[in-house]
Amino acid sequence: MRFSESFLSELRARTDIEELIGKYTEIKHRGTRTPVALCPFHTEKTPSFVIYRDTMSYYCFGCGAGGDAITFIKNIERLDYTDAVRFLCEKAGMNMPLDPVDDEANRLRRRCYEANREAARFFHAALFTEEAKEVRAYLDKRRLSPETVKHFGLGFAPDRWDSLVKHMKTKGFTENELVLFDLARKTSKGGTIDNFRNRLMFPIIDLRGNVIAFGGRVLDDSKPKYLNSKDTPVYKKSQHLYALNLAKNNAERRLILCEGYMDVIAMHQAGFTNAVAGLGTAFTKEQISLLVRYCDELTLCFDSDEAGKKATKRALSMLSESPLKLKIMHLADGKDPDEIIKTQGKERMKNIISSAVNDTEFALNDARSRYDVTTEDGKLGFLNEAVTVLADVNNAIERDLYASKLASELDVEKKALEAQIRKQMSFRKKARENAQFGDALKTVLGEEKKTSPNPEAAGNVRAVKAEEIILATLLKHPDYLKKLSGFLSADTFVTEYGKKFFTDITERITSGRSLELFSFGESNENEEMAYLSYLLAKGETIANSLEECRQCAATLTEEKSKKNAPDIKGLSSEEYLQLFKNKRRNNKPEGV
Ligand code: GTP
Ligand code: MN
Repeated sequence: MRFSESFLSELRARTDIEELIGKYTEIKHRGTRTPVALCPFHTEKTPSFVIYRDTMSYYCFGCGAGGDAITFIKNIERLDYTDAVRFLCEKAGMNMPLDPVDDEANRLRRRCYEANREAARFFHAALFTEEAKEVRAYLDKRRLSPETVKHFGLGFAPDRWDSLVKHMKTKGFTENELVLFDLARKTSKGGTIDNFRNRLMFPIIDLRGNVIAFGGRVLDDSKPKYLNSKDTPVYKKSQHLYALNLAKNNAERRLILCEGYMDVIAMHQAGFTNAVAGLGTAFTKEQISLLVRYCDELTLCFDSDEAGKKATKRALSMLSESPLKLKIMHLADGKDPDEIIKTQGKERMKNIISSAVNDTEFALNDARSRYDVTTEDGKLGFLNEAVTVLADVNNAIERDLYASKLASELDVEKKALEAQIRKQMSFRKKARENAQFGDALKTVLGEEKKTSPNPEAAGNVRAVKAEEIILATLLKHPDYLKKLSGFLSADTFVTEYGKKFFTDITERITSGRSLELFSFGESNENEEMAYLSYLLAKGETIANSLEECRQCAATLTEEKSKKNAPDIKGLSSEEYLQLFKNKRRNNKPEGV
């Protein structure tokens, strides 16, 4: 084990989880047993992040984030387990235990960073070789200057099977490592070949300046146009943004979100150095929390085609709860920023950026484009939609402005329009209050608003509920384990997920190891830590009695036998009859 239990328990005792979390988000009901806060891991307006002082854990009923102080620091500071412990150690004025054993996961991550850096060097150098002549011509054609190429560390993956593999071997990397880091892959014949071949390479760099992955573009029209690294020990594509390392230091705290690598590069080259892009996936919640850290205003710059419009709407709806001021650029004729800069110049781009509309105007424009406002029907349809858009505008002056504009555009009474908007707003307010009250009540009662985080919960609702009561009770009353032994074993559990936790918990109980959340952190990932803190939260709301556990064990046995019931469709008529007889016997009332 990496850290001794005595060390961890001292660290735990010296850490005030409420104070720690309070540094990152404002806490309500301070000093009580269960303070609540706005979750620092997702954007929300109603607090659903609960801190449990007794168990030194937290759980967000909104996004499912949860864990202990170490998990919290790991996630909010983006540190690995050991560094998070070090962080807390320094805060607590304790010394890290000497001679730390380097754990395998950390070693692997370090190797992965090193390999990516070496690969980026290799690709970049390859760009200046004889065989890359055509690639350089391609870069010229796309108007990328030598400075830009250097600034973004672009490179070339040679048109050979294993040039990178060969190079990396001379640098001491093994084939297995290269496969694990998604730089190479095994062939069916057992060889190892480069993953990226004959492609223009875009290194993806994290906020600390580490190369963590690559995107590779074909040099002709072949498919797939872009090949991106898969997730590796140091890379999760949903958690990064391309070029944020370069864009994050903009003083105005404004960022422009583009669709692709090439757009970002063209924008930077033209002087718009606050452009970033997603990494070939749909926009994610993690990316939003990243954006919130580095900007107050975000301009969406997606293509104007149908796909781009759809992506814009999706992003806007995900961003609606965020504190960001939003703007939307309009690029005409399905062009992307790269083409606009190339064909119309950066002045034109500057104009487009400055004429970006806010989200209200975007929604109004979008609604207008779907109706023929020269007809009475179309006018009415548009008005109805416009009212729902304006009811969302919080600022009264802004709302009034749009109402005036609309009234004169459509030649309707402004008063009538305002009355409609007010009606819609009070309707919304009521709905919101109801929802808020419901949320607050549920949080206080500790009742979960979402279904269980157990990935097998769908289709096993009853069983999962029973499993969770048992697990939550055991965490609080480990002595019940013996008393339940006649009723309960790992095989009683219906879901594999529940079974895994039961096995871990019972092993800890029987071997006398700690059941504090703190001592689970070393061998469990974020997801498991969140589930454990969810169980601890649950423990606050149930009876925690032996009797309840017995009933739950019975429920599990029942659910399991339901699952094991034979599939009737596949039976012969004799088997079917037999089953029917058994069933009748079982159903006979007692004493008959
Ligand atoms: P150019 O064609 O070189 O100008 O690139 P682009 O950035 O304009 O490409 P496009 O608008 O077609 O795609 C935008 C982004 O979507 C890219 O930067 C990629 O991140 C992603 N993308 C496009 N094509 C593919 C693909 O075939 N596979 C994957 N994984 N991602 C892609
Ligand atoms: Mn393009």
